Amino acid sequence: MKYIVEFLLIIVLVLPSLSYADNIAEGKSLTFDRKKGNCLACHMIDDGELAGNNGPPLLAMKARFPDREVLFQQIWDPTESNPYSFMPPFGKHGALTRTEINKIMDYLYTL
Ligand code: HEC
Repeated sequence: MKYIVEFLLIIVLVLPSLSYADNIAEGKSLTFDRKKGNCLACHMIDDGELAGNNGPPLLAMKARFPDREVLFQQIWDPTESNPYSFMPPFGKHGALTRTEINKIMDYLYTL
């Protein structure tokens, strides 16, 4: 009985952190994928190659975007905060789903 309880406890504690690690990995590939986020076209990010510099480098994200909702909005529709932004409104235009944007954010918050 004791082992069963310990076993269940391990599953409950370890599984969520595994899926969080998966989200970060998926988020990174969505961010770098030229047919998905293609964020490297304009942003210098981490170890991404051939990065553009039309947008600011994406770093120190936790410090600069403490509110997850603000970061979400920037990716969903940047024109909300800056009507002249030429960053594509990925969410509003259906280029990325809500789930995909959340994975991208999980990755960005590691930077
Ligand atoms: C066509 C160029 C372009 C692409 C592609 C692009 N961005 Fe941007 N991004 C910008 C520009 C320009 C800004 C500057 C602020 C603004 O205009 O909204 C910006 C700003 C940002 C900011 C705010 C940064 C800061 O320091 O304030 C974040 C976060 C961001 N982009 C994330 C992303 C993510 C994630 C992707 C990919 C899903 C992406 N961007 C794709 C051009 C782009």
